[in-house]
Amino acid sequence: MQYTTLGSTGMDVSRICLGGASFGTSPVREWVLDEEESREIIEHAIDLGINFIDTSNIYSYGESERIIGDVLTEYNRDEFVITSKVFRPLEEETPNSGGLSRKAIEQELDASLERLGIDTIDLYEIHRWDDQTPIEVTLNALDDSVRRGKVRYLGACSTRAYQLANALHTSDKLGLEPFRVMQNHYNLAYREEEREMLPLCDEEDIAVTPWSPLARGFLARPARSLDSTKRGSVDSLLYNRPYREGGGEEINQRVQELAQEKGVSMAQLSLAWLFHKEWVDAPILGTTSVEHLDDAVEALSISLTRSDLEYLEEPYQPVRESGLE
Ligand SMILES: NC(=O)c1ccc[n+]([C@@H]2O[C@H](COP(=O)([O-])OP(=O)(O)OC[C@H]3O[C@@H](n4cnc5c(N)ncnc54)[C@H](OP(=O)(O)O)[C@@H]3O)[C@@H](O)[C@H]2O)c1
Repeated sequence: MQYTTLGSTGMDVSRICLGGASFGTSPVREWVLDEEESREIIEHAIDLGINFIDTSNIYSYGESERIIGDVLTEYNRDEFVITSKVFRPLEEETPNSGGLSRKAIEQELDASLERLGIDTIDLYEIHRWDDQTPIEVTLNALDDSVRRGKVRYLGACSTRAYQLANALHTSDKLGLEPFRVMQNHYNLAYREEEREMLPLCDEEDIAVTPWSPLARGFLARPARSLDSTKRGSVDSLLYNRPYREGGGEEINQRVQELAQEKGVSMAQLSLAWLFHKEWVDAPILGTTSVEHLDDAVEALSISLTRSDLEYLEEPYQPVRESGLE
């Protein structure tokens, strides 16, 4: 395993972060693993040296946090960097179960800590921007969580660049703990973040941990056989995101060709592309397979030339924004 320093947090993290959205028997996502199956993936990831794990209060409505917390009781907890998140309502109709008010943050953070079975979350992120709550209120509540020792560092997921800039300016002005990590939608088939967000992160020393690094599987198999896996046959976001738009089909074709030429899988080549992007610290991989975890680790050793990178990138055309909702 390779490790890197997660931006200005100074924490050591594996260059692959394990995505927690695949764990915990979800009533709405048929492809999510039950507890025993999830445990096997998490333990295998740990055996491979992965110490960076991403979850959220919303993943399987808290089950993902509970299972991850339970598995980690068998290990030296201090070695791991756990991310969790707040924003999405756990119960749609229940007031104050979502958003980024002080009330929602304090309630949800306590619930996440309890499910994870820990006193402090290493990295706590806003899952989206909350238009209903002034950023000063959110940042003050998050800063208090840090002062109280419940959270170590803060991050944000999929905001617009101007919103992150606004948040950084506000935390600086008020002397509050800033967002130090951006978790955003970025992969070979969705590169809109290169326009504003990634240069901003670079400029401000914000670590970048892309979600859906394989475009939910679009970059892991030929476009004509996306529905050949269990998740592929039911995951509506695989089809609703703009992966096939712009030059998407051609990118998929080129990933197939170059992967074959290099004797690696499409998923490995697509991950290798991300590992070559300097602004990426650690992609967050979603998998339900121990073999695919092994593949991801092997992808860290794949070397791509400048002309390989250009060949893969060339067909990309701007597409509608996706993943901010
Ligand atoms: N902050 C946010 O708003 C946000 C949004 C989405 C996701 N996330 C985070 O990002 C994580 C990953 O996202 P994701 O699952 O949507 O995207 P992903 O990692 O891009 O795609 C996962 C898909 O790729 C397949 N795959 C993985 N490795 C493979 C391999 N070596 N060969 C073939 N197929 C492979 C998986 O199939 P198998 O299961 O068969 O391996 C699965 O169908 C989530 O778990 C979550 O932690 C965060």
